[in-house]
Amino acid sequence: MARYEFPKNFYWGAATSAHQVEGNNHNDWTEWEKETNHPISGRACDHYNKFREDFDIAKNLGHNAHRFSIEWSRVEPEEGRFNEKEIEHYRQVIAALRERGIEPFVTLWHWTLPTWIAKQGGWENKKTIDDFARHANKVARSVKNVRFWITLNEPEIYAMNSYLRGKWPPQKKSLLKFLQVYKNLAKAHKKAYAIIHSTWVLDTQVGIAKNNSYFEGWTAPVFNYFWNNWFLQKIAAYQDFIGLNHYFHNRIKGFKYNQNENKTVSDMGWEIYPEGIYHVLKDLKKYNKPIYITENGVADAQDIHREKFIKEHLKWAHKAIEDGVDLRGYLYWSLLDNFEWDSGFWPRFGLVKVDYQTMKRRIRQSAYAYAKIVKENSLEI
Ligand code: FCB
Repeated sequence: MARYEFPKNFYWGAATSAHQVEGNNHNDWTEWEKETNHPISGRACDHYNKFREDFDIAKNLGHNAHRFSIEWSRVEPEEGRFNEKEIEHYRQVIAALRERGIEPFVTLWHWTLPTWIAKQGGWENKKTIDDFARHANKVARSVKNVRFWITLNEPEIYAMNSYLRGKWPPQKKSLLKFLQVYKNLAKAHKKAYAIIHSTWVLDTQVGIAKNNSYFEGWTAPVFNYFWNNWFLQKIAAYQDFIGLNHYFHNRIKGFKYNQNENKTVSDMGWEIYPEGIYHVLKDLKKYNKPIYITENGVADAQDIHREKFIKEHLKWAHKAIEDGVDLRGYLYWSLLDNFEWDSGFWPRFGLVKVDYQTMKRRIRQSAYAYAKIVKENSLEI
């Protein structure tokens, strides 16, 4: 057994996103869910109504940080018409976190678009950049007391699945469109960055949540450049911290992707490879910015891997800290079981189990194991 102490004031918590937990949204995804043969998000976890109860759970588990997203389609359901009632809802969400001593990490866009934005061509259309900037402006000026802002969630995963692989709405398959969307997202971030800073909230920290993978193999540097670093380099002067979402290890043989040993896999079939987080963190060191792990988690309905998953990832993250990486927080994905995009409800990522019939919450054993780490600000393994 060894003990690994984490830095003072380390942020510990979990993450969610609006479309995956709130329920009863109306956006481009809900339209797509209805039109195509995909799972329907519906009531999701009813977190829109149960957020206080859910934050009580987070508090009881000792969390001092929580990441959630603001649903753009609620805030601005029609072009230029802001819904003050919904803005008030998010004010209350933030207040509920603060009352419980939990630092909010607020995401401004976690993949879903108001239908009017989708109709004008989504992120393919340059106009969406300005529309997003206006959304950022409205939200930042309305809520005020937020320190950590994440403008965009995983621009690369979104652009790839929606514009290259044709998997997610609007299901396009075009390298040209992919690049166009990716570039527009970078521009949107830069604009939002400046706007959020112009609200003059003391010590505002703005960044994105970037999904970086650990690549192995002789072609790894190519993948590492384009997948992990291209976007971050483009916005390097416009971020105060790096938000890291980490899930994947990719052993590449020649140009064959994902040739992993797969000794242990999650319910999603994703390889569990904790060492990867160390390499990814080390690679981010060159940006000289504080790093927060804004997502890392496992789909594990039986809760047989989760405790070890968290502990092993934290062990490797700690090694990165020892090697000089300025890591300041860890947000597990997710606080609750939730709606996993095109997969629907079956993948169970939550520290907390959700019964979708009764909407009852049940805290998993692994959540208590994580709570012990949080409480002690250190890991024993
Ligand atoms: C990430 C997403 C998050 C969740 C996890 C499993 O790529 O940001 O919303 O779906 O994967």
